Amino acid sequence: MPTLKITPRSGDQISVEAATGQTLMEVLRERGDVEALCGGQCACATCHVHIDATWMSIVGEPGETETELLGFSMEKQQNSRLSCQIHLSDAMDGLTLAIAAAEG
Ligand code: FES
Repeated sequence: MPTLKITPRSGDQISVEAATGQTLMEVLRERGDVEALCGGQCACATCHVHIDATWMSIVGEPGETETELLGFSMEKQQNSRLSCQIHLSDAMDGLTLAIAAAEG
């Protein structure tokens, strides 16, 4: 059961417990942190997050479709990921991330 350290758009970092096997987007959507308009189909980019750089090797790099979609974002950084494409595991206990600013 990983505990996540999330910085929402509104400010201060909070700790949130998540279930292994959930996607990161599901956790964030439930909290109202992201809209996730496409429901996790890697088609909207409204679940965009910035992963703390020290966690990128655990979380991994975005896939081809995800990279393409992130390419349209003004908020894209080297540590950008779409949270619907991240399946939480016990190895992600302590995962630290910030919600990217809303676009459009
Ligand atoms: S929820 Fe639409 S791309 Fe992640």
